[in-house]
Amino acid sequence: MPLMSAPRPPLFQRVAIIGLGLIGGSLAAAIREQGLARTVVAGSRSTRTLEQGLALGLIDEGSQDLAVAVRGADLVFVATPVSSMGAVLKALRPGLAERAIVTDGGSVKGAVIAEARRALGDHFPRFVPGHPIAGKEKSGVEAADAGLYRQHRVILTPTPDTDPSATARVSALWAAVGAEVLEMAPDHHDRVLAETSHLPHLLAFSLVDTLARQGDSTEIFRYAAGGFRDFTRIASSDPVMWHDIFRENRDAVLEALALFRDGIDRFQNAIEHNDDEALMGVMTRANAARAHFLAMNERTSYTRARHSDDETGMTQQSNPTFLARPGGRLNGRLRVPGDKSMSHRAIMLASLAEGTTTVEGFLEGEDALATLQAFRDMGVLIEGPHHGQVIVHGVGLHGLKAPGKPLYMGNSGTSMRLLTGLLAGQAFDTELTGDESLSKRPMERVAGPLREMGARIDTGEGGRPPVRIHGGQTLKGIHYPLPMASAQVKSAVLLAGLYAEGETSVTEPAPTRDHTERMLGGFGVPVRRDGATSTVAGGARLAAGPLDVPADISSAAFFLVGASIAEGSELTLPHVGVNPTRTGVIDILKLMGADIRLENPRDSGGEPVADLVVRSAPLKGIEIPRELVPLAIDEFPAIFIAAACAQGETVLRGAEELRVKESDRIQVMADGLAALGVEHEVYEDGIRIVGGPFGGGEVDSHGDHRIAMSFAMAALRASAPITIRRCANVATSFPGFAELARGAGLDLEVHASKENE
Ligand code: S3P
Repeated sequence: MPLMSAPRPPLFQRVAIIGLGLIGGSLAAAIREQGLARTVVAGSRSTRTLEQGLALGLIDEGSQDLAVAVRGADLVFVATPVSSMGAVLKALRPGLAERAIVTDGGSVKGAVIAEARRALGDHFPRFVPGHPIAGKEKSGVEAADAGLYRQHRVILTPTPDTDPSATARVSALWAAVGAEVLEMAPDHHDRVLAETSHLPHLLAFSLVDTLARQGDSTEIFRYAAGGFRDFTRIASSDPVMWHDIFRENRDAVLEALALFRDGIDRFQNAIEHNDDEALMGVMTRANAARAHFLAMNERTSYTRARHSDDETGMTQQSNPTFLARPGGRLNGRLRVPGDKSMSHRAIMLASLAEGTTTVEGFLEGEDALATLQAFRDMGVLIEGPHHGQVIVHGVGLHGLKAPGKPLYMGNSGTSMRLLTGLLAGQAFDTELTGDESLSKRPMERVAGPLREMGARIDTGEGGRPPVRIHGGQTLKGIHYPLPMASAQVKSAVLLAGLYAEGETSVTEPAPTRDHTERMLGGFGVPVRRDGATSTVAGGARLAAGPLDVPADISSAAFFLVGASIAEGSELTLPHVGVNPTRTGVIDILKLMGADIRLENPRDSGGEPVADLVVRSAPLKGIEIPRELVPLAIDEFPAIFIAAACAQGETVLRGAEELRVKESDRIQVMADGLAALGVEHEVYEDGIRIVGGPFGGGEVDSHGDHRIAMSFAMAALRASAPITIRRCANVATSFPGFAELARGAGLDLEVHASKENE
């Protein structure tokens, strides 16, 4: 017999909506649509509104007497203008049932709470102050829309007296109509809204009014183009409502206005004194800050936020799916984007240098952009990136300024770890945050040695982000034997060493990428290298100079594997960085039988580069030499795909570091291989993969860029399509991957989807 589930009881028995305009009417419509109450009643001064509400089917009953309207209700939602809230609450108070919860939709909270305390008396603990951040330019009950609150934020601002069970039930209601519910203190809410909503409205009203009062204003309005229209759209908002808001949130609005006046003065000064650097500084910072804050808001990435353009300025989470069809081969000549590790270091060292550095070949991927943004936030003037060119106006070793806000590192472990070292030596405090994946990654591995140097650093729960760095400490040079082979930890300690007294040295258990050491040398800071030990002295000065970032061997790796496994392939990958601490992937693939040649080997600013030529070849399984593991640490997802296509078994051990990358790369790859039917065995520190024919299937990349790109290449040898979910983070290291791969011959489609990471 099929199981029948009992219908869910509604959240509330009887909901009274006081004020049936757009906000109240839309909640009534959403409650109806979701079946969240047995009865919906409205209270309104206007009989016409009540009749319309009944006719539209939004409410069951209505009354002009507010005490009557709320009688027997277990939830009352007050959606009247903030200035009338006190009188409205007073009028409905006599009808309130003892346990009735009252909540509101007012856009100012401090004033409303004060009114509610007066009007509700001993019922005040059942009042849950709230503010749905949603609206339209249309108003009135006829504009009511059951979807108005979907994917919008609702801020609840309970006071210490508010009954937490009442807050929880109001929160459940908003969540049930599709909203994202946040809680904050009332005064914090009012300050934030003053800055983000009230101030922009004030400026729009004021600008239009100022220009309209000019002599020939028709002229101005006739020729006013897009900019004026965009900036002043909100000056069409309801004057009565905004009058109330400016009055009720007076103090916070005045503070925000004073802040703005400072900014305008600085702008005026810069123009008056032809201060180009200050002018460019304001605008490049503003440009980037807009993308940055949107990204941070959504805990998503930079380019996705940058491309958001909807009216609210909010981004939609879009996390594309790759659909890779089986077969095909790769041919041609393609330049993969700039090296990620070097792009981070280029921004960091150029910012600390004296003079201007022009960087060519910069990776315009989200990870490197996170680093770039952090330095802009610390006052460095950075132009670009524009077609891989970035111009950094260095501020010197001690020229960074306190950022004033937490620095958001997105998905980038390198940004967070290297910056922790560099920031340990600053005079100011900083906080580093990241997205969901970065927030799970270990940070004590850098905090530990930095504390030994005298730094004060707090990490979050379990030693993970956020990382808080207390500035103004005196650092002393140490010798640090690295417990794991990690270039990030090594670099963090060496960067802190620039600020330490005496010498700082690190000894690594196995060679790891040495871009920090090489690039410091390029900026004129000697790094002494003695076997596995590197040493820097504190107090050095960095001298600016041009920098060329070669193509990233880690991005080339997908194509090295793709061309190796797809019969009939031949690819040339020009100007790839072939630093010997990065070429493990070439050595491993060659041991497996791959046909890869390095042509035109040359030096580019202290880093070896070459053109890589790869032809398809039959691969065989191998036992991967342990000493190659740190030299191919980022390329294992791609190497696992090569192993799946090889004849025989490939065994990897000694690679436990893979478990703490952007995802647990051993487990996530194993799950993906299982989905395709590839035989394998997982170890704590590695994997055994048995090569052979495999099928298609659905793979979850867990938001890990390298896993997504590796499985896309696997399709070249799969017998059916491979669907790869959550591929947005491919943009962290390889913007344009899909187009480039398609151009070379991979049958790859990108499908938009709006799921969360
Ligand atoms: C990097 C070092 C490596 C690597 C990462 C980049 C760097 O990390 O995986 O992608 O730029 O220093 P670990 O230091 O954690 O091995």
